[in-house]
Amino acid sequence: MADHAADAIENVLHESRVFPPPADFAARANVRSLDEYEQMWQRAKDDPEGFWGELAAKLDWFQPFEKVLSGGFPDVKWFEGGKLNACYNCVDRHLSTWRKNKAAIIWEGEPGDSRVLRYQDLHREVCKFANVLKELGVGKGDRVTIYMPMIPELAIAVLACARIGAVHSVVFGGFSADAVAERNNDAQSKLIITADAGWRRGKEVPLKDAVDESLEKSPTVEKVIVVERTGRDVQMVQDRDYWWHELMEHASAECEPEVMDAEDPLFILYTSGSTGHPKGVLHTTAGYLLGTMMTSYWVFDLKDDDTYWCTADIGWITGHSYIVYGPLANGATTLMYEGAPNWPHEGRFWEIVEKYRVNIFYTAPTAIRAFIKWGEEWPERYDLSSLRLLGTVGEPINPEAWMWYHRVIGKERCPIVDTWWQTETGAIMISPLPGVTPTKPGSCTRPLPGVVPDVVSKEGTSLPANAGGYLVIRQPWPSMLRTLYGDHERFVKTYFSEVPGMYFAGDGARRDEDGYFWIMGRVDDVLNVSGHRLSTMEIESALVSHPAVAEAAVVGFPHEIKGEGICCFVVLKEGEGGDELRQQLKEHVRKQIGAIATPDQIRFAVALPKTRSGKIMRRLLRDIAAGREQVGDTTTLEDYSVLAKLRESSE
Ligand code: WTA
Repeated sequence: MADHAADAIENVLHESRVFPPPADFAARANVRSLDEYEQMWQRAKDDPEGFWGELAAKLDWFQPFEKVLSGGFPDVKWFEGGKLNACYNCVDRHLSTWRKNKAAIIWEGEPGDSRVLRYQDLHREVCKFANVLKELGVGKGDRVTIYMPMIPELAIAVLACARIGAVHSVVFGGFSADAVAERNNDAQSKLIITADAGWRRGKEVPLKDAVDESLEKSPTVEKVIVVERTGRDVQMVQDRDYWWHELMEHASAECEPEVMDAEDPLFILYTSGSTGHPKGVLHTTAGYLLGTMMTSYWVFDLKDDDTYWCTADIGWITGHSYIVYGPLANGATTLMYEGAPNWPHEGRFWEIVEKYRVNIFYTAPTAIRAFIKWGEEWPERYDLSSLRLLGTVGEPINPEAWMWYHRVIGKERCPIVDTWWQTETGAIMISPLPGVTPTKPGSCTRPLPGVVPDVVSKEGTSLPANAGGYLVIRQPWPSMLRTLYGDHERFVKTYFSEVPGMYFAGDGARRDEDGYFWIMGRVDDVLNVSGHRLSTMEIESALVSHPAVAEAAVVGFPHEIKGEGICCFVVLKEGEGGDELRQQLKEHVRKQIGAIATPDQIRFAVALPKTRSGKIMRRLLRDIAAGREQVGDTTTLEDYSVLAKLRESSE
């Protein structure tokens, strides 16, 4: 177990506060009693086919499935033989109900412009854009890269792909041209959808420029569709680049949804792994949709009159599952915001909550830590009385941040759902049910129905209460990833080989005497910066690609706002390095991966601490980066003098 994980355990061990669900909330919750939850959970564990088979009736099928679950880890299939369409389930089926005039998407742009798309409007836009894609030669099974700001066209593009059976690969708009190219190439994308630019803190993020650069290195991409968002001057290449609004002008609003197999791919989403290039997590149609739909209903307690806001970007899994697919499959109203939380002022989120009377608010611990820093006066200026439920995701929330969220935003009235899950799990796995589960600050509490997690040793033995170990999932669940695109071997190796017979999440955890889970962070070389997974390996290779760098090791260190900061130990080919090179290297990483990967610290070193077999001793580097007196075992260290020099290398 990594030692930063061991620190997390120290912290939470002292936490003993318990918050039962407020009685009035529980009285009208979608799941109302602990008994009901426990029965559901037990049934799902003992009879997963019966449990999920019944719930699957909540989806609209073109043809019923023959079997609920086939196979076992690592190769499982859910709802074999069933035919359906994810877009149809998120949009069309609401048109035959009163919801046709309900707001599906409420959108707020960073400059303050806004749009509301009723389910009918969404249907029209999605059908038109689906026809546009078809006309440009995109068909079932083709991969489409989507690299866009948080504007309604992003959700429309995602749903249009699902409608025609094209596999979307959304790349977060904060990634660099190189990152886009790498993902285009891995997925062999045929077309890319982008915008001239997006707004971020009053500045334009030049997405189309980045796409142009990426296309020099991604030969499979034939066409580009560009939404006009900011009006920025961009280069349009004849017969390659097309304006969204021009294509949409003549597109028909009628488009039959493609009949998809339950196990047909729905999307690829790239995420960082501990080695090699990013992993193309592949999700399929029925299981993913059912998982996101049911968890949205259970965890967010969605009601028809709720305005629900998840602040994530659709470029991450949280946005896929809990801005688009989950809420829309439930016929909910989902809010989308384009910009930064502190633009034009630090009260922007609370202004939006007041403006739209938001009821359910789902954000990340890193954002909460920023709110704390900005001060209580910001939320106090706005009317937050519409809020009834709060959520967090992306990293462990420290109990004090939880308490602040509870007191200042929730006014001690709103339950908090701390939801543990991953890109790979597709949907929330461990989380309180807001009307049922007494919460403990810092714990994601208990598994949802259908999820059978455990804390085990390396050998796969269950550990007793309060012992730290590896978090695993013991039984297949519908929304699990099916493969890593183009690399099934890596899929099997990464998730099913560490602990034989179980899904290995890569997180450390302990389970307390009440069966509550406490996540202790990653056990692999993956950083969690502001709730986003970054591979130390990728940052290292970005650094080494700079001509001045001979060798680099990247580790995380505790960071007040970001959770984990990025510290790079860099050995130069020659010379000592200075502030100018430091700045250059930060810029270099930023350009190669994107702004989220910008190093917080660059420390020049003469050598890296290594074992006799040549492995970098990251544990020592982590101690140094965190400013801890190095306490770990150094008996295998090859050259002791390296350590002393490293300590002096601080930025
Ligand atoms: C971490 C985000 C503690 C964890 C949905 C996991 C969490 C990784 C929580 C997945 C939580 C996510 N408490 N840690 N509630 N939620 N994590 O793939 O380390 O971007 O493995 O998915 O984030 O990150 P990903």
